[in-house]
Amino acid sequence: MKLIILENAQQIAEQVSEIFIEQVNAKKNSVLGFATGASPVPTYELLVKAYEQGKLSLKDITTFNLDEYCGIPASCEQSYRTFMFENLFGKTDVDPEKVNFLNGNAADFAAECREYEGKIAAAGGIDIQLLGVGVNGHIGFNEPSDKITDIPFAVELTDSTKQANSRYFEDGKVPDYALTMGIGDIMRAKKIVLIATGDSKKNAVKAIRDGEISSQCPATFLRLHPDAVVFADKAAAALL
Ligand code: F6R
Repeated sequence: MKLIILENAQQIAEQVSEIFIEQVNAKKNSVLGFATGASPVPTYELLVKAYEQGKLSLKDITTFNLDEYCGIPASCEQSYRTFMFENLFGKTDVDPEKVNFLNGNAADFAAECREYEGKIAAAGGIDIQLLGVGVNGHIGFNEPSDKITDIPFAVELTDSTKQANSRYFEDGKVPDYALTMGIGDIMRAKKIVLIATGDSKKNAVKAIRDGEISSQCPATFLRLHPDAVVFADKAAAALL
């Protein structure tokens, strides 16, 4: 794992968007794993800009999002599907037929998760998985726990995560459950890029570099990946 500390979120976005642009320009039908939340937004803005300037086409990529809430309509403002269309897919030529999300309203979560796993495998695996990190060290919605997860699964969100994400919900009420890729899915990506920005991520970044590798801090598993790059801004790297 490589750790790169830059001045601010914009500098990180410049480098991360370049990684994605190079990947797609080298392999038009790349399989890309995307994250939602605040961390990737500046990167998505730069990918949209590259598309508008004719430097990037995403029309042949296949996408897999990391996670989705359970029990809210896919079309509502807070769903991760809506987020991706508002921030990236709807502003570029991503083919809506080639985007994949876990269905948080599936009747049978276990079957939904197995099917998602099958689709990732059938696509040939993920070329680059983009990640943010939770203040508690979660990646995707792999919350601190005593088990390592492999394939997608349904998870009960922790109070820490609900608190952090309540800003996106008008009534502050975050769903109790989500579906998420497992640690195994993330680790099977050929390359992983994690973005950590802001003071609230400083404990997570310290743990990623120095903490015990443990399911109690899922982001620490990145140290075992042969091609993982963690980008932290000065604030997130304050404890290093
Ligand atoms: C989102 C996801 C989460 C976020 C994490 C950080 O798809 O998988 O793990 O990356 O909660 O969120 P932000 O970037 O909003 O601080």
